[in-house]
Amino acid sequence: MAEILALYGSPRRKGNTALLLKKAVEGAVEAGAEVEEVVLRDLKMSPCLEIYGCKKAGRCVIQDDFQAVYDKALACRGLMLASPIFFYTVSAHTKTLMDRFQSLWVKKHWIDKVPFGKRECSKKGLFISVGATKGKRLFEGALITVRYFFQVLDMELWQSLLYRSLDFEGDVLKYPAYLEEAYTAGKELAESMRGRAGEQHTTIRI
Ligand SMILES: Cc1cc2nc3c(=O)[nH]c(=O)nc-3n(C[C@H](O)[C@H](O)[C@H](O)COP(=O)(O)O)c2cc1C
Repeated sequence: MAEILALYGSPRRKGNTALLLKKAVEGAVEAGAEVEEVVLRDLKMSPCLEIYGCKKAGRCVIQDDFQAVYDKALACRGLMLASPIFFYTVSAHTKTLMDRFQSLWVKKHWIDKVPFGKRECSKKGLFISVGATKGKRLFEGALITVRYFFQVLDMELWQSLLYRSLDFEGDVLKYPAYLEEAYTAGKELAESMRGRAGEQHTTIRI
């Protein structure tokens, strides 16, 4: 299993978040990390059916592509997640994946009886997001969702790269500084996992 898992959450293969995440992956590889990339739109993955089959085995019982991503997410030490803003939260592809991790939440809190609020952040997560508009609260919904998703994975939201005013495919290419920031973030994520550099912070552009 790879050290870093990179999840592409946009339905666009060459969209803005995909281009940014690709740069972050390049940075991490440059720093010597082994990175595995998963494009969520390529997966055959059901939404959570709320049947709570996970209450028995501590694992989701729906047999589809989620199972492999689940194993990879548990095994990795760092996660990169990129999603566009769709109606003030993450994309449907991303949310479908997140909801399936309710099975992990069930394992932690209902089966293994881990107390609520007990946080173990042994892993680091990078979140990359892009929205078309300029609203002050554009990323609020996605950030709270991502924070709690990472928490289930024992992961801190180590860094967020959030960019406004990008709409059409490839718009981000007009902003080399953003791509450079993504590259640096990927590099720093890989380095921080080896105990070097990597302050926790958020970069938001207008
Ligand atoms: C279904 C849908 C919902 C969207 N909702 C929002 C929104 O709430 N706020 C916003 O600023 N942009 C919204 N957008 C625009 C996307 O965030 C924007 O086009 C972004 O650049 C797409 O990133 P991508 O190229 O990585 O897919 C929406 C786009 C779609 C297709």
